Formats: sequence, C-alpha cells, structure tokens
Amino acid sequence: MNTNRLSKKLAAAMNAQMTKEAHASQIYLSYGAWAENNGFGGVANFLFRHAQEERNHMMKVLEYILKRGSEVQVIAIPAPMDNPVSIYNCFEKVFEHETDNTKAIYKLVKMSFDEEDWASWNFMQWFVNEQVEEETLAMNLLDKIKIGGGEKASSNVLYELDRDLENISGEVIAAQDVTTANP
Ligand code: FEO
Repeated sequence: MNTNRLSKKLAAAMNAQMTKEAHASQIYLSYGAWAENNGFGGVANFLFRHAQEERNHMMKVLEYILKRGSEVQVIAIPAPMDNPVSIYNCFEKVFEHETDNTKAIYKLVKMSFDEEDWASWNFMQWFVNEQVEEETLAMNLLDKIKIGGGEKASSNVLYELDRDLENISGEVIAAQDVTTANP
C-alpha cells in the first residue's frame, strides 16, 4: 500500500527547498565570517544567528517530507556566492537572497494549490509569513545604512549599526533558544 502523501513533483520541490534553506544557512555563515574578519562583530553575531535559523527552516521542511511519508534526499549544498564588498553590499545581498527565496516559496504554494494538496498549502503558509518578516528585517537594516550614507556611510554610522546588531538579541531569538518546532 502506498502511504506517500506527496506527489512526485511536490516531493521533488520540497526536497529542493530543503537544500535551498541549507544553502541560505551557508550563505549567512560565510557572510558572518566575512563580517567578523572585517571587525564587525555585531553584524557577524546577527548573521551567525540567522544561519542557525535557516538551518531550522531546512529541518522544518525535512520533517514535513518525512511526516507525509515521502523520501528525503540529502544532496550537496552549493557553495555560497562571493563575499560582500561592504556592509551596505552585505545587506543588499541578504535582501536579494531573501526575495529569491520568497519566489521559491511562492512556487511551492502555487504547486500545492494546483494539486489541491491542502496540507502542503497550509504547511507553506508558515514560510510565507516568515519571508515577510525576513524581508522586512533586511529592508529595515538596508534603510538604516542608506540613511547613514549607503556605500559612503561613515565609520560612526557603521559602528552604531554594529553595536545595535550586537544587542538585538531581545528582538531576534538567540540561536540557542530556537527549536525546529519554533524556528
Ligand atoms: Fe529560510 Fe531566510 O528564509
């Protein structure tokens, strides 16, 4: 008896999304290391915590695939793209990356809808909301730097941003407090 509750197409797309979340985690990890190397410990702290969040997203998809009786395919994670060239560029890249992920999420939502797989459609709504939050966060950080001069932001502006991100733990859950069920 076939107990697989995901179509072949949806299972493949969910697996691809799982890898995409893992890729996102690697990107944040590499940007965090870049920030730390360049003396921005606060930015690094923020990016490392975000890397952990992305890993939790990956686990969330993995657990859903298993819960629906389908097969998980763990494959190689593509290497992160090039390091940023500045803090402004770093958050530009973060924002671009998040909007790209949103597109992938929307494709899964549409696929679930077209297949009338309401369980998957419902599952994906969590990611739709999460993407709004992540895009807003990236947008706000980008705005802050833009107001401070963008690429020409003074070292004072960057210092303050770095300090703010170091202390942002009250707003963004610390990685150690995040669970797969509550990413
Ligand atoms: Fe898992 Fe940044 O979305």
